[in-house]
Amino acid sequence: SHPKTIFSGIQPTGVPHLGNYLGALQRWVQLQNEAAQDTTLIYSLVDLHAITIRQDPKQLRHWKSDSLAMLLAVGLDPNRSIIFHQSDVPAHSELMWILSCQASTGYLGRMTQWKDKTSNEKENSERLKLGLFSYPVLQAADVLVHRATHVPVGHDQAQHLEFARDLAVGFNHTYGAGTLVVPETLISPAKRVMSLTRPATKMSKSDSNDKSRIMLTDTRDEIFKKIKAAVTDSETSSITYEPESRPGVSNLLDILYHCTTASSYQDQNELARDMESMSFKALKGRVAEKVDETVHPIRERYSQIRSDEKMLDDVAARGAQRATESAAVTLKAVKQVVGL
Ligand code: ADP
Ligand code: NA
Repeated sequence: SHPKTIFSGIQPTGVPHLGNYLGALQRWVQLQNEAAQDTTLIYSLVDLHAITIRQDPKQLRHWKSDSLAMLLAVGLDPNRSIIFHQSDVPAHSELMWILSCQASTGYLGRMTQWKDKTSNEKENSERLKLGLFSYPVLQAADVLVHRATHVPVGHDQAQHLEFARDLAVGFNHTYGAGTLVVPETLISPAKRVMSLTRPATKMSKSDSNDKSRIMLTDTRDEIFKKIKAAVTDSETSSITYEPESRPGVSNLLDILYHCTTASSYQDQNELARDMESMSFKALKGRVAEKVDETVHPIRERYSQIRSDEKMLDDVAARGAQRATESAAVTLKAVKQVVGL
């Protein structure tokens, strides 16, 4: 069969957190380590996506280095995977424009993330930015410019990937079969981590409350403090796994389950039955212990890597060069068929 190309991205809008790790980065590393020899792996720090929301320039530049260091700390190997900053490769923006001329505004307007982000600002479209609206087109360009065959994403991104697929199919229909490669979505087995302070919402870099997330740089002490303060509920009877009605406790069980390597439990329900008569306090102690076991080696590697600015610059430069080469093939073919 054809060699695979795997592409995925993360916004450098903060130090990656436990949700990013369990929901995405851990999978990226696994895909890298299990990939066939002829599989290409491309992982991008999508800084152009980051500026769809206003960022402090100094802060963003810092976060870009933090995020690059974190990709290496979790186990991505820059000799095996292409790791690069999106804005270092202009082909992403160029293909985005060309695809924009093909993308339906009606389709973009139906995107759940757009609707969520804009629901409070319906009355004031003066404030809504074009970049936020066309974000999925840039995401499509990211994937399509590298001729990705497989795109691992979380559930939150599945709709955008479907948009990218439809855009590729439409483009090929208009300009010629086979110009763009229609990617397959690799939905991660659901490992969604919720906020520790508002467990009905997902853990996110963009949450203004630092206590809502475990950062992969957190010390053991910080991990214990945050988990101890995590919101549970007022039911005192027992520990049960009910994500809908008991999101706080269920999130702790999810975290415990996902951070327990070689878990002897079938699923979170079985884990919950084993913890049934435990106090919240004891459960939180267990969770914090397992989270620290997971984060500890990452934190140690990170602090080494982050201090080596020269090495990080070299990795970024080399990644940019390899990604530029990867993107050139598609851009050339696309310009050709469009008449540019
Ligand atoms: P964030 O929302 O924290 O800014 P990104 O949008 O940059 O994260 O997403 C990077 C990757 O991490 C995506 O694949 C996304 O699906 C995954 N991800 C983000 N938050 C979570 C979470 N709370 N649980 C599981 N996966 C997540
Ligand atoms: Na996000």
